[in-house]
Amino acid sequence: MTTVCVIGLVGLVTSIYFLYLKVKSIFYKIPPHPKLEDTWWGPRDQSKEDSSIKPFKINISDEVLKDLQFRLENALPFQPPLEGVKHNYGINTNLLNNIVDFWRTKYNWREREKFFNQYPQFTVSVQGLNIHYLHVKPTETKDLKVLPLLLLHGWPGSVREFYEIIPLLTTPQKGRNFVFEVIVPSLPGYGFSEAAVRPGLGPLQIAILFKNFMERLDYSKYYIQGGDWGGALVKIIATLFPEKIIGVHSNMCDVRTPLSYVKLFLGSFFPFLIVSKEHRHRMYPLGHRFSFLMLESGYMHIQATKPDTIVGLAAYIIEKFITWTNPEWKDLDDGGLTKKYTFTNLLDNVMIYWVTRSITTSMRIYSEAFGKNQSGGVIERYNI
Ligand SMILES: *[C@@H]1O[C@H](CO)[C@@H](O)[C@H](O)[C@H]1NC(C)=O
Ligand SMILES: *[C@@H]1O[C@H](CO)[C@@H](O)[C@H](O)[C@H]1NC(C)=O
Repeated sequence: MTTVCVIGLVGLVTSIYFLYLKVKSIFYKIPPHPKLEDTWWGPRDQSKEDSSIKPFKINISDEVLKDLQFRLENALPFQPPLEGVKHNYGINTNLLNNIVDFWRTKYNWREREKFFNQYPQFTVSVQGLNIHYLHVKPTETKDLKVLPLLLLHGWPGSVREFYEIIPLLTTPQKGRNFVFEVIVPSLPGYGFSEAAVRPGLGPLQIAILFKNFMERLDYSKYYIQGGDWGGALVKIIATLFPEKIIGVHSNMCDVRTPLSYVKLFLGSFFPFLIVSKEHRHRMYPLGHRFSFLMLESGYMHIQATKPDTIVGLAAYIIEKFITWTNPEWKDLDDGGLTKKYTFTNLLDNVMIYWVTRSITTSMRIYSEAFGKNQSGGVIERYNI
């Protein structure tokens, strides 16, 4: 009896809400654009800024590498993990020992530097920040359309994650009359891109910065792709500057309108209304989703509130590659890491954060994203 009442009540509330939305949509006005300011984020004087495009090569000094080698050789031993816990208490220190051994004895930065430098790289100052980017043009373009494509990474990623896919995009593929020309920047505060020196550079402002960046590179229309923060950025860029964007690809889409929450809730009673059978297990039961989020989103709370406090680089980053690639891998001894990655590839990414000392600045995007001067729901309202 109670169940029937609850379902009835849920049905009633939902119907009223849908009715409200319908009425609202009739009188709905597109909200005004948020304030889009070309804020100066950099440390230098705006009037003296050199805004030319400069070729760039990664070339880390011997001192930085010697210092790292010393640290790896003199690291304090880790506490052994509890028996049988695999990666359920964070990264397992047996695995971490293997990774650190590999880093100390086999990982060869000078060789990796050559690998990193295989693609042309540049820097250009946008709104006072030197932005580092790869710019790879197709070698063969005969009878082919060349499509500019901006690729945006997230946290704890870097331009490294695109190295394998770049040749697939920039070389002609059978049955396709186009190739891509790819532009792959490091987000501000990440890797070889400069970080803001004043507060406020959240996703909305980074979206503006990359719109200006593409303008500076002389692209008036282009494709965009992003995941993680890159996914948030492509959503904002496409919403605010649709005239510039030919197409969007996101590997982290989210919808956070009031209606989406109602649908999510409704779906826990009637999942068939909301999502096809094959994908149902990804959303429901909601209890599982929420406990997963509680378990795996602690980092977000820390980074959103105390981004300048966190240390312990390799463990902190590589742990994410276990649970974010497949939550079940935390029950494997080796964290499943070598199913998809090599220690070299994982350490490449860690090294970008290490040699540029950018972990702290990379995490500030979380606190800025929850701060003032963000879209305040405006982006979502455009998408209704
Ligand atoms: C890296 O910099 C050093 C010292 O500044 C220089 O001697 C060396 O040739 C550079 N290497 C490359 C690959 O540019
Ligand atoms: C928000 O934007 C206003 C106007 O540009 C600026 O004065 C203020 O400092 C910004 N606040 C934050 C927290 O970034």
